[in-house]
Amino acid sequence: MELRLAEVFASLRSAQAQADAPLCAYVYDLAALRRHAANLADSMPDGCELFYAIKANSDRPILQTLAPLVAGFEVSSGGELAWVREHFAEVPVIFSGPGKLDQELRQAIEQDVDCLHVESLHELQRLADIAGRAGRTAPVSLRINLTVDKLAETGLMMGGKPTPFGIPAQQLRECLEWLRAHPEIHLRGFHFHLLSHQLDAAAHLQLVAAYLAQTRRWCEDYGLDIDHINVGGGIGVNYRQPDRQFDWPAFSAGLATLLSECGMPGVGVRFEFGRYITAACGYYAMQVIDIKRSHSKTFVVGRGGTHHFRTPYAQGHSHPFHVLPIDAWPYPFPRPEASNDTVSIVGQLCTPKDVLAFDAPVESVRCNDVLVFPYAGAYAWHISHHDFLRHPHPAQWYLPVE
Ligand SMILES: Cc1ncc(COP(=O)(O)O)c(C=O)c1O
Repeated sequence: MELRLAEVFASLRSAQAQADAPLCAYVYDLAALRRHAANLADSMPDGCELFYAIKANSDRPILQTLAPLVAGFEVSSGGELAWVREHFAEVPVIFSGPGKLDQELRQAIEQDVDCLHVESLHELQRLADIAGRAGRTAPVSLRINLTVDKLAETGLMMGGKPTPFGIPAQQLRECLEWLRAHPEIHLRGFHFHLLSHQLDAAAHLQLVAAYLAQTRRWCEDYGLDIDHINVGGGIGVNYRQPDRQFDWPAFSAGLATLLSECGMPGVGVRFEFGRYITAACGYYAMQVIDIKRSHSKTFVVGRGGTHHFRTPYAQGHSHPFHVLPIDAWPYPFPRPEASNDTVSIVGQLCTPKDVLAFDAPVESVRCNDVLVFPYAGAYAWHISHHDFLRHPHPAQWYLPVE
């Protein structure tokens, strides 16, 4: 994951110089995104496909950059499906998510999604009813909530224990028996997404190995003929220690070995990454409005806050940031500054929860400097409560693909 800080800083400086109010912006580096996604797709072993989970960031320029590089988009709502189809009529789409409405199942069939990931027997029954009425066959993968031996948990678990996601493996037999009597459903494979925030390449390889081994057993036990397994997304970004990121080269090399030893002939392996594809291309920037001491703590108040950039609060971390010095100072009185201090970075909301970074050491930060938060391209703007307090939305721009 490449960060091109010099280019981002230059574009922020030039925007700040022209602004007539403190700056608050998202900047996305599409050239870095393209290189990163191309590298991921190119370094996957034969038989693997990379989909992008658009929930992480569904902005059109992001999708336009990724569309030629990935095998397709994973969507999790009728709204995401409509958005993709409006702009990318031909891109293959796979459809996940709990609580799909009948209307969404119908839309998925009409829009020719490549595969629906079904979350329960009841959903399967509703889908069969809808497909039958339309005279169509629905391609599905069953999303299974698998119990995996010695599963190393991360901070965000979607399975491996009681959760609303997927079909517990104990209910698989019943689903498969039901499927035998319903040719309007075509079982294409199995889908797994047990966790997100995975930072450990070896642990993730073990998880993929467990999915493969289990799928092979089911195919043998039930005489199934499937064409792929989807091993989900889940690769994390190390916000706490940005210089220690997921070891992608080790993972892709290990995956090649795993597939050559334990792959199933004719069964492809799909990935649907969100965070790991887009996090590093985005930056959230806020200009410092105030710096104050309160009960022996230093608070740096920036323009914006968690209503724009909810990622740190959502994940409970102190987000890394850079201080971009801005030398201009428009007032006749001294400039507030914190130097060689430990600070909290907060926003403009009237809640003590509006904190983007805490216990953060800084050499120097002054009012009017710009704080730049990297790794803000995924689950950032799109998961934030934009309209709380009716502050204006941040500017957004894209550094072009060269
Ligand atoms: C079914 C499914 N697939 C893929 C993803 C993407 O996960 P990540 O962004 O961790 O790669 C999610 C995220 O919640 C998901 O629920």
